[in-house]
Amino acid sequence: MAKFGRIGLFGRSQSGKSTMMDRILRHHRRVILFDALPARAANAAQEGYTQITSVSDLIEAVQANYWDGFRYWFKPDDDEDYLVLSLSDISKFMVDHQNQNADRYGFDNIPELTLAVDEMADCFPNHNLSKKLNGFSRMCRSGRHSRIHLVGATQRPAEVSTKFRGQLEKRFLFNLTEPADLRAVAEMGAARGRELADAVSLLKPLEYIRMENGAYTRGKLSFPG
Ligand SMILES: Nc1ncnc2c1ncn2[C@@H]1O[C@H](COP(=O)(O)OP(=O)(O)OP(=O)(O)O)[C@@H](O)[C@H]1O
Ligand SMILES: [Mg+2]
Repeated sequence: MAKFGRIGLFGRSQSGKSTMMDRILRHHRRVILFDALPARAANAAQEGYTQITSVSDLIEAVQANYWDGFRYWFKPDDDEDYLVLSLSDISKFMVDHQNQNADRYGFDNIPELTLAVDEMADCFPNHNLSKKLNGFSRMCRSGRHSRIHLVGATQRPAEVSTKFRGQLEKRFLFNLTEPADLRAVAEMGAARGRELADAVSLLKPLEYIRMENGAYTRGKLSFPG
């Protein structure tokens, strides 16, 4: 099983983020995929996801299938306030559920969960959220301690909260061209940020730079994966 951690996928439209996300998630056994775009439908079916559209139905389904495993595509209504609220509520539920089960069965005996969020800028925007909406930012800090993996993708790293993009163990950077996004990349690259942003601006579609523990490797998605 993959190591616990938070993985970020960044790149412009059609650069390869959702394809990479699908490939990462194939190794996970209990997955909630949060994506408001109806365009996900064909590919979600192919990857074995069942579609769920309300938070209460999702909670019920996860509780029923917690030990056996599940793949749920949560598709909220595409309303900005609801995106932020539902991501926060799902995150709170996942952390509480893991902690309750850890108390009951022991931390080492509970299964790993994965929350994957596509098009993150829409549901975890780059401004402070009220306490009522901060479930996902709390999970970014504490998820690993609850055996929860996080995978997030966005076209606009500059528009996603640093609570996510500042906390990642692993990043896949696809091509980006907007100056604000390249500045966000430079921040993520710390001392080598400038050099990293330049390299990212020159990537072709499907090419990426993978960053993990300060190491950079280049790669390219190929089909079939
Ligand atoms: N089976 C396949 N064979 C060849 N190319 C494919 C296949 N599946 C996807 N692609 C190509 O991969 C590219 C990347 O698609 P992907 O959906 O991963 O991009 P993305 O970064 O998530 O884009 P967006 O931000 O618009 O969602 C697309 O140009 C698509 O045409
Ligand atoms: Mg995509």
